[in-house]
Amino acid sequence: MCGIVGAVAERNVVNILLEGLKRLEYRGYDSAGVALVDNSQHIQRVRAVGKVQELVNAIEASPVAGTTGIAHTRWATHGSVTEANAHPHKSTNIALVHNGIIENHAPLRDMLKEKGYQFTSDTDTEVMAHLMHHERQSSGSLVEALQKMVKQLDGAYGTVMFDQNDKDTMVAARSGSPLVIGLGFEENFIASDQLALLPVTRRFIFLEEGDVAEVTKTSVRIFDKDGNPVEREEIESDVTHDAGDKGVYRHYMLKEIFEQPISVRNTLEGRLANGTVIDDAFGHNAADVFKDIEHVQIIACGTSYHAGMVARYWLEELAGVACNIEIASEFRYRKSFVPKNAMIVTISQSGETADTLAALRLAKEIGYKSSLTICNVPGSSLVRESDFNFMTRAGAEIGVASTKAFTTQLVSLLMLVLALGKHKNLSAEQQQNIVAALQSLPNKLEESLDLANDIEKLAEEFADKNHSLFLGRGNQYPIAMEGALKLKEISYIHAEAYAAGELKHGPLALIDAEMPIIVVAPNNDLLEKLKSNVEEVRARGGILYVFADKDAQFASDDTMRVLNVSHIDEVVAPILYTIPLQLLSYHVALIKGTDVDQPRNLAKSVTVE
Ligand code: M6R
Repeated sequence: MCGIVGAVAERNVVNILLEGLKRLEYRGYDSAGVALVDNSQHIQRVRAVGKVQELVNAIEASPVAGTTGIAHTRWATHGSVTEANAHPHKSTNIALVHNGIIENHAPLRDMLKEKGYQFTSDTDTEVMAHLMHHERQSSGSLVEALQKMVKQLDGAYGTVMFDQNDKDTMVAARSGSPLVIGLGFEENFIASDQLALLPVTRRFIFLEEGDVAEVTKTSVRIFDKDGNPVEREEIESDVTHDAGDKGVYRHYMLKEIFEQPISVRNTLEGRLANGTVIDDAFGHNAADVFKDIEHVQIIACGTSYHAGMVARYWLEELAGVACNIEIASEFRYRKSFVPKNAMIVTISQSGETADTLAALRLAKEIGYKSSLTICNVPGSSLVRESDFNFMTRAGAEIGVASTKAFTTQLVSLLMLVLALGKHKNLSAEQQQNIVAALQSLPNKLEESLDLANDIEKLAEEFADKNHSLFLGRGNQYPIAMEGALKLKEISYIHAEAYAAGELKHGPLALIDAEMPIIVVAPNNDLLEKLKSNVEEVRARGGILYVFADKDAQFASDDTMRVLNVSHIDEVVAPILYTIPLQLLSYHVALIKGTDVDQPRNLAKSVTVE
């Protein structure tokens, strides 16, 4: 999704802006631009369609410089991918960038046209630039003009702008799209994601919903949604500077797949003691609230939704807590029944997914007793708006395809099962077994990564296929769904997942030698049932690729390729079986030559609905 970087300093900020944009590339975008101002008090703007490198090339060809500047990567919503639609947008002395969608842009555009403003783009954002210019005429300061401007907007925005006639000031506003101020020494910054600013600072202030900020080289003033001056907490980020580097890996996705043993260790660290999860792991006083919870409603999107689906099996089977799970974009637009003593649990890597955030707000409105988010980004909107939060500690995830965020979400959810289950059906012995299984996971994950070479060879058989089917049963069904999502998202091969028991209710009709069937087969109670489903496929000429426990007794032959996964406790098996499926999609995508880290049409953080 779109990215924003801004800086106000003594020095030329153009390289800070470009480096910031590069660090935001992972979010997904289709064009980029910068606008700067220096002592000449004249806006210099460069925009380019395509990668940030195109913008860098354009600036190398015609250099621009300035001590105040804003920059943007655009993911088209209103108006096609053209230079004219790229940000920053200008209105005479104003330059402005924007993330989000302005829903009432059409009437505002008509009103501004009547006042004589001329539009040069099809975007909703240009409306904001002209509206800002209009309000600037009757306002004593830039920040006052911004306060008046945002009152007229419906929709979502994170926006940053400057006025060439007030060249040492940037102003910004946040509603529905995150912004963070970075604090430097006699220079300050602003961005939509702290990652963009890590080369220049680690001190951050996260703006809250409705905030408006004025940022100069030496000062930051913040006003809340009612216009009152407010102090927001300054935090020291523990995200490392090199979080945005690929290191020795060819792609972020591969790096992130291989980081999973360490990410899982980090997620577990300091949270387990005496054979269970510690009471405060989910926040101070969480245990007081958790002991009365009888029902959990999980809300998430995409990969995070699949993590929630696994959690439903765990919560009901192990903890004896009733659990529903729903895709956020569905939940938010339907009337739902709120069970007694129910907690809403959102799951999100970014903490900014628009649908998940809207669903959380709705859940609070309609009477859920408490809210918890399982999230990877500290300070994100979901974290701030939930009663309790549990950070997954996966570290920055840059690849659009979620990998380490998923496995750490699963680990976190299993700790939630412990936290809720200890007040319900979960015996001390069961808790100890789950803890032991969790603690064994990092080493098992290391072992499963050793399958990478075999999977690389296997991937060659997929690269010329157009369709594929993923099968699993029980808590491995969501893992099959996640495997299918990974494959389609980065290799563009159509992939569908089925609970294996559903095969004969339709999908068997699809089976032929051109349809690879991927099966996840741990050694559990459902193994014999799964084996019957595998035979149904074989009998119809299907080619099978089975990731199986070595004791599950599958043998490779002409129609079945078997890769053995280490034996592991059944409860945590979904986490382990995720790894070979991630590796499979990665290697298929590599052979197909797709853009692994930034697949077409996708964005990392989906901050619009
Ligand atoms: O940041 P979130 O976890 O809320 O994002 C939800 C989905 O957009 C995300 O999981 C998406 O499906 C990934 N690209 C999957 O790899």
